[in-house]
Amino acid sequence: MSSQQNNSSVTLNTLNNMKERGEKICCLTAYDSTFSNILSNSGVDVILVGDSLGMVSQGHENTLSVTLEDVIYHTRSVKRGAHRALVVADMPFMSYQVSGAQAVTNAGRLIQEGHAAAVKLEGGARMADRVHAIVQAGIPVMGHIGLTPQSVHQFGGYKIQGKTFLDSKQIKQDAKDLQKAGAFSLVLEGMPEELGGKITHDLEIPTIGIGAGSKCDGQILVTHDLLGLNPDFAPKFVKHYVQLADVIQNAVSEFISEVHSKAFPAPKHSYNLKK
Ligand code: KIV
Repeated sequence: MSSQQNNSSVTLNTLNNMKERGEKICCLTAYDSTFSNILSNSGVDVILVGDSLGMVSQGHENTLSVTLEDVIYHTRSVKRGAHRALVVADMPFMSYQVSGAQAVTNAGRLIQEGHAAAVKLEGGARMADRVHAIVQAGIPVMGHIGLTPQSVHQFGGYKIQGKTFLDSKQIKQDAKDLQKAGAFSLVLEGMPEELGGKITHDLEIPTIGIGAGSKCDGQILVTHDLLGLNPDFAPKFVKHYVQLADVIQNAVSEFISEVHSKAFPAPKHSYNLKK
């Protein structure tokens, strides 16, 4: 039975079984309960409360100013709407880099206060000890390697990673180290399809790709990108399944014109006293 037909909640086991069966894992982002309810009911397996919320919801240029409090707040909302999907909360910039103790404390808050089932953090081999420490505390961790947006300044922009022999060797090592540290899954972002495929083949844990080609065990997109809510953002890896910005703009224009012309509210939208 595919996960879409099965209404029981998604767990880490579900994802492992899907990898074993060669069934693709579908992940999307959400920041509120309306969206998480729609996504979960549509059959999405994993909902990530990504720090992308800093860009798509808060209007920042990058993800770096998102705070732990922001992610806790949004995760609580998402969790209320996600009846089937596994909810993963992103660890924001500087909420795990300082020390293992800081990483465990903050991952714990995302579980205890945000009600997430798992956390995600960015970084490869150099973050393996953080992943290990959090997993030892009983908290599942999703890793994130390749083009890790929290390192945007170090990369000098949002650049595809792993294009040279040495870079791709390092990313393959990152993947192995994170699996060894206990990560239950890895996001592979912004890398050549061949590298995404090789890592996916070599790992036992599921890989979730974004701009990492078709060979990953699953795919993730930022929901606002998939829905065309920000039509100016159209990098190669994004597919706009609908131009929702246009749909919304047309609906709002119609509302404005009907208010101006007094066509709205019509009698059927108004309350009247009993005669
Ligand atoms: O923050 C986010 O939404 C992410 C995904 C795009 C992988 O990290």
